[in-house]
Amino acid sequence: MNIILLGPPGAGKGTQAARLVKERGMVQLSTGDMLRAAVREGTPTGLEVKAIMAAGDLVSDEIVNQLIDEKLASLSPDQGVIFDGYPRTRAQAEALDGLLAKHGRTLGHVIELDVDEDALVDRITGRFTCAKCGEGYHDRHKLPAVENVCDVCASTEFKRRPDDNEETVRTRMAEYRAKTAPILPFYEARKLVARVDGMASIEQVDAAIEAVLGLA
Ligand code: AP5
Ligand code: MG
Repeated sequence: MNIILLGPPGAGKGTQAARLVKERGMVQLSTGDMLRAAVREGTPTGLEVKAIMAAGDLVSDEIVNQLIDEKLASLSPDQGVIFDGYPRTRAQAEALDGLLAKHGRTLGHVIELDVDEDALVDRITGRFTCAKCGEGYHDRHKLPAVENVCDVCASTEFKRRPDDNEETVRTRMAEYRAKTAPILPFYEARKLVARVDGMASIEQVDAAIEAVLGLA
């Protein structure tokens, strides 16, 4: 099973992908996470994309298509993949068709997380993660059970993304509206799109996704 999670910044793509990894053994392919790793490691790609990401603009199609190609090559075809934050343009959607065919995969579902953009600013500006294991938290909605101690790995170090400020979030949302939302008809024509209410609780969204996947 290969699926795409589609939705604007803060819609819950990463949150839901992590649950599917944990509960269903799927593999999360987040181009955002891959690019942030490249920036952290100072690779040539990282140096090229750092300022673009900090501004909330999209990096080039070529870069992300290549990252996805490399990751798919490293997986066995029976490992189900969740595409998180990819594709984001029509050109990426077309490239993904070619990459899926190349790696012997088919697309099962495109799940659109339907959300209210103003609420997303609150979600994103409150978000932080464990610096060690990556568990996600939120200043107002999901604090660790013990203050400043990760629930999962007990680390006391946390981090925030440099692009999680209101100004950059607005740019990221505008990019989503202009370039990513227009790829929905490409998949609607193939009857692959399921719309899930992304404003429901994390557990309810999880249940709705499981229902779409026929796992509920
Ligand atoms: P990327 O990392 O993909 O970021 P994004 O799309 O802006 O989305 P986010 O990761 O911010 O949100 P999310 O939907 O994963 O939400 P989350 O689950 O964390 O991309 C970053 C940058 O990289 C881009 O701007 C671009 O520069 C570049 N890039 C990446 N891919 C690219 C591509 N393909 N092409 C070109 N450029 C690319 O949830 C957010 C918060 O809300 C969390 O705190 C969470 O706990 C909370 N939350 C989640 N669900 C709920 C809920 N149901 N109720 C209440 N709170 C919730
Ligand atoms: Mg994410």
